Amino acid sequence: MRHVFWRTFHVATSLLIVTTLTACGSSPSMLSPHSPEARSIADTWWLMFAMACGVYVIVMALLLIATTRRPANVSEERRRRFDNRFVVVGGLIVPGIILGITAVATVDVANKLSPAAEAAQAPVRITVEGEQWWWRVDYPDDGVVTANEIHVPINQKVDIELISDNVIHSLWVPELNGKQDLVPGQVNHLRFTADRLGRFEGRCAEFCGIQHAHMEFVVFVDSANDYRDWLSQNRSAAAAPDQPDARGGQQLFESSSCAGCHTIGGTSAEGTAGPDLTHVGSRTTLAAGAVDNTPDGMAEWLRDTQGVKPGARMPQVHLTDQEIETLVAYLEGLR
Ligand code: CUA
Repeated sequence: MRHVFWRTFHVATSLLIVTTLTACGSSPSMLSPHSPEARSIADTWWLMFAMACGVYVIVMALLLIATTRRPANVSEERRRRFDNRFVVVGGLIVPGIILGITAVATVDVANKLSPAAEAAQAPVRITVEGEQWWWRVDYPDDGVVTANEIHVPINQKVDIELISDNVIHSLWVPELNGKQDLVPGQVNHLRFTADRLGRFEGRCAEFCGIQHAHMEFVVFVDSANDYRDWLSQNRSAAAAPDQPDARGGQQLFESSSCAGCHTIGGTSAEGTAGPDLTHVGSRTTLAAGAVDNTPDGMAEWLRDTQGVKPGARMPQVHLTDQEIETLVAYLEGLR
C-alpha cells in the first residue's frame, strides 16, 4: 500500500510543480501585475492557488493516513455512518464552499474589469485593429498611426478600442490586463491604468492563422513628458533624408509597389494595406516581432520576407542588394 501512496504523491507533486512553473516561469507573466486591473486578476489566481494547495495538503495527508494506519476495530454500522458523513462533507460541502468562493471572487473581478463598469471616458483613447498578422495602432485624438507598439502614459486610464475586419484576434498584455478579443463586426474595449514605467510584451491570444505565433506587440508605459514627446514626434511627417543612399531609397520606395501598401507621411506613399512606416525607424521590431528592427533585420526582412514570416501578406519583393541597401538606409532613418 505504501508504494501506492508514494507514487501518487510523486505524480501529484510533479504536476503541481510543472503547473506552477508554466504559470510563472516565462515572461511576460500575469503574476507580476503592473496595473490595478492586472493585480485583481493575479489576486484571484493566488486565491485559487492557495485553495488548491490546501486541498492538496489535506488529500495527501488523508491518503497517507489511509495507507499507513491499521483498520480500526469498529462495528460495520459505525464505519458506514462515518463513510457517509465523510462523503457528504468531503464530496459536497467542502467543494461547494470552494466553488462558492471562486464564483464570488471571479464574478466580482469580471464585473470590475467589464467596460460597462466604466462610465467616465478615459483620457487616453487608442484604437487597435487586428490584422493578419500585425497590429494597427491609431491615436484618433492625436493624429498618430503606428504599428505593433503602443505607447501609454503612466497612471492614466487608457481605453483601447479593439476592432478587426478579418478574423478574431485577442489582445493580451499579461502584466497590464486580461485578454480581450478583437471580433469582426464588433467593437470591444480594454481599459487599464499602468502604474509602472517600462516595456511590457503582448501577444495575440486567439489562433488567427498561420502566423498567429508571430503576432507580438509591445506596450511602452512612458512618463507624462515622454508620452507627450512621443506623440508630437509621431504626429509629424517623415523628415526628408539627407544622405544620397537614403534619398535613393525614398525614390525607390515611392516609385515601386512599396507605396501601394504603406504610408509614409509627407511622401506620395499612401497605401494602407500594410503598417504605416512614417516613423518605422523608431520602432524596436519589424513584422510584429518577427525580426529586430536593426539595419540587418530590415535587410533580412526585405530580402526574404516569406522566409522570415511565411504566409505574411507582404509578398516577396525582388530587389537587388543595392536596392535593399538604399531602402534600409531610408527606412531606418525614419525616426
Ligand atoms: Cu492574431 Cu492570433
